[in-house]
Amino acid sequence: MRPKGIIIAIDGPTASGKSTTAKLVANALGYLHLNTGAMYRAVALLADKEGVTEADGRLSDLLKQAEITFEATGAVCLNGRNISADIDSLEIALRASELSTIGFVREHLVERQRKIARDGGVVLEGRDIGTVVFPDAELKIFLVADPAARAVRRQHEMEEHGRHIAIEEMKAQLAERDKRDRERKLSPLKKADDAIEIDTTSLSIEEQVQKVIDLARSVSK
Ligand code: DC
Repeated sequence: MRPKGIIIAIDGPTASGKSTTAKLVANALGYLHLNTGAMYRAVALLADKEGVTEADGRLSDLLKQAEITFEATGAVCLNGRNISADIDSLEIALRASELSTIGFVREHLVERQRKIARDGGVVLEGRDIGTVVFPDAELKIFLVADPAARAVRRQHEMEEHGRHIAIEEMKAQLAERDKRDRERKLSPLKKADDAIEIDTTSLSIEEQVQKVIDLARSVSK
């Protein structure tokens, strides 16, 4: 059984370092890592596979039947199948951003996130964790980074998956997604008033992870 502990909320724009930080902090503390973006991506994958659009009433039913779970490794599963590789594309990311503007999609996923994480000992990463999902989280982090640095990071990640994307295109895609995530009516990407902002532009991964671990230890005392 995982040890009880605090709830750590990590929010921030795309490629600000959330996933890497959340994963390594969770490993170091023996916490669960909950990547909420992967849940929105799972919905996008499902909708695309079934040819369901926002306009058609089937999305709500589809969502109710979908079982989104996580393996101990953090891999996300849809109806029991590991879909981590399938959701790791720019197309699915954009689609997830579009579908995340729909109220019932958010309500459904937020309810699941609260259920999985309510006992603590968890690092959740997303856009609305500190503001909406767990406004009482003991530690809230808001990661930011320079747009150019974020585009380069994401470009390298895509290259590791064998896909070359020109830096200008990458920047444009990040800007489009950020804009939608920040400007949507429901639970927009926003720093919670009591979140601690960390700029990861010139930090190493070790440094950003250590900062969050130190903060977690100081609030758990
Ligand atoms: O973190 P990510 O890039 O995998 O997220 C994909 C999209 O899902 C993101 O552009 C917006 C949406 N999302 C959200 O609205 N709320 C969250 N808590 C996490 C992701």
